[in-house]
Amino acid sequence: MIKVAVLISGRGSNLEALIKDQNKYQITHVITNKAEAKGLKIAQRNGINNTYINWSDRRSAEKTLINLFKEIKVELIVLAGFMRILSPTTVKSIPRTINIHPSLLPKYPGLNTHQKVIAHKDITHGATVHVVDDQLDSGLILGQISFSVDLNMSAEQLAAELILKEHKLLTTVVGLIANNQLSWEANNLYNSKKQKTKPVYIDD
Ligand code: GRF
Repeated sequence: MIKVAVLISGRGSNLEALIKDQNKYQITHVITNKAEAKGLKIAQRNGINNTYINWSDRRSAEKTLINLFKEIKVELIVLAGFMRILSPTTVKSIPRTINIHPSLLPKYPGLNTHQKVIAHKDITHGATVHVVDDQLDSGLILGQISFSVDLNMSAEQLAAELILKEHKLLTTVVGLIANNQLSWEANNLYNSKKQKTKPVYIDD
């Protein structure tokens, strides 16, 4: 079973979904840059090692993070609502790292994705799990989930609907990675037979 670390900054509902889904993978560590993150309580309740790193000095915070990963030897890092950008050097020095983002990338990297969907009158919205590289929300796409938008929906309603889809997407993708059914090298995705494959798409 692969060991997974999850980095969070807030509520931790994606973390909770991963914890509930554990059987092919094990969440062994939760790391946060926010001492008051609700997700930290979820980790504690579930008896998972948890670490708060003060991020006021980014350089020293990332050094601490790199050293921690040398110690704990996880095989996958999941950024789930982690609101700090990791420097390219850090990304290269830590185990493979993926992120969940609340939009159908490459549409709407960055913040306020639900508001952008409304402003553009998009008829679909969704979430993306991608490999973390040295740019914001830009790495190789591993999977996406989408759903139809009702044009009367508020940003809050969109967020509430999307978060449930995020849980489904993230647990699916992490499960596939843990099972060796999805892997990547440079910009290519591979299936269990090491044949090139496409990202996972869930139409919900
Ligand atoms: C999610 O919408 C995720 O896509 C974004 O931040 C939010 C985190 O939610 N990056 P939670 O902390 O997992 O509940």
